[in-house]
Amino acid sequence: MKKGPAPAKGYDALIYPVIRQTHLEKLVDASIAQYASQEKYEGNFGEWLLIPLLDVTPTKKIAFLGLGDKRQIDEDVYRRFGGQLAKRVRDARLQHVAVTLDASCVVHLSAREVMRAIAEGFFLGSYVFHAYHSEQAEKHQKHQVKEMHFYVENASMFAAMQRGLDDAAPMVAGVHLTRDLVNTPSKDMGPLDMARIAEDIGKLSKRIKVKQLDRERMEKLQMHAALSVAQGSAAEPCGVHMVYTPEGAAKRRIAIVGKAVTFDSGGLSIKPADGMMTMKMDMAGGAAVLGVFRALAHLEIHAEVHGIFLAVENMPSGHAYRPGDVVKAMDGTTIEILNTDAEGRVTLADALLYAKQQEPDIIIDLATLTGACVVALGEEIAGAMGTDRKLIEKLSSIGSYTGEMIWELPLHPSYEEHVKSKIAQLKNIGARGQAGAIAGGWFLRRFVGQTPWVHLDIAGPAYAEREARPDTPAGGTGFGVRMLVRYLQSF
Ligand code: BES
Ligand code: MN
Ligand code: ZN
Repeated sequence: MKKGPAPAKGYDALIYPVIRQTHLEKLVDASIAQYASQEKYEGNFGEWLLIPLLDVTPTKKIAFLGLGDKRQIDEDVYRRFGGQLAKRVRDARLQHVAVTLDASCVVHLSAREVMRAIAEGFFLGSYVFHAYHSEQAEKHQKHQVKEMHFYVENASMFAAMQRGLDDAAPMVAGVHLTRDLVNTPSKDMGPLDMARIAEDIGKLSKRIKVKQLDRERMEKLQMHAALSVAQGSAAEPCGVHMVYTPEGAAKRRIAIVGKAVTFDSGGLSIKPADGMMTMKMDMAGGAAVLGVFRALAHLEIHAEVHGIFLAVENMPSGHAYRPGDVVKAMDGTTIEILNTDAEGRVTLADALLYAKQQEPDIIIDLATLTGACVVALGEEIAGAMGTDRKLIEKLSSIGSYTGEMIWELPLHPSYEEHVKSKIAQLKNIGARGQAGAIAGGWFLRRFVGQTPWVHLDIAGPAYAEREARPDTPAGGTGFGVRMLVRYLQSF
């Protein structure tokens, strides 16, 4: 971040954000503006024009990057703009760049909010995962942006933007952590690895305490539902309970629960090969809980936050739970297992019961729960269900500016029948071919009791087969982290 007008030293490029139909003469020399208009440059969102200058100038190139139509600009547009900036700069191999942030490109939001969004987008769009590819890591290192300075003329805007830049940092750290955990192969990100990451986060802040629930503890607590899913795997299950305690009195106590199946083979109801290919991502809910706490480690918020997940691996073996088995959750609820691939809800039964014991005001769970939700809403939208319509609306509105879309699916009363078993209180699958995501919701509903609760089925948006947005590269997306952190900051 730099105060003042045009940069004094030479950069590879000087970049101007451009709102559609801006008179470029206001920003740059007439000759450059004229060149841009000859090139029919309009400033549509993401539209990029790179103009080489004669080498007598200290800066080698001028670039324009479009913000699009002024009326459509909002926080999410700025974030996607930041993502575009990262991509363009990387593709053009510009390593030392300056961006001029003129007061005219701050619209509809405060300067602080604009900078936060652009910075989030830039860092999130710059994310790469190459822990398993050292050549690629080296190449990336070599071509990476070395220097990016934002020039701000106006002194008060400068201070606000500096704050916006600082705001972005914890959020980016949280989302990056979640992406890393989801992208890491299951062999290196089993239940105990997730618990270790939680411990590491606990070391970052005196406000965060971490408790591990090992197998023995889970047995004592009678978490036989979650344990039955784990029993087919050689990997030890491990639960995690993190607590963030605020400085002053807590305005609310919020529990965030994540599905954390570190690999989902389907168990004895085994998945076809294609369906298993990305199932290292089936712990994305738990990874989002860790991402939220990674962000909280550097934030002051006014809620007490409980982060809870029971990490297990779902494998077929001679020890595996079977279709037809009846297992008992912590509170004694009996569950008939009819498909061992509907394992997420079985682990969440105990996780939600444990969360309820903490007497929270609100429970929010995130789970890569059903393929049916992906069929219904696709790869960019999460399904939302629950008992607190206001909270769903609030999360939905937060998501519209953090770029995480959710859509409510109805917990239609008569569909509760779909998860009723003939021989037990519940069965773990719904009616064949019908409302699979809602059946999952109804199943979970049984374990939250009277506590206001929202379930987010993130099976679609937790993992991107291909890049969907300029701030979200393919792979683990970190879906939910920004939304929940912003929600927690709202108290
Ligand atoms: N982890 C899967 C859901 C999933 C599917 C997540 C695709 C991400 C992408 C879950 O455990 C599962 O297998 N669900 C079954 C439930 C069914 C057996 C009732 C499904 O959706 O097929
Ligand atoms: Mn499954
Ligand atoms: Zn699963």
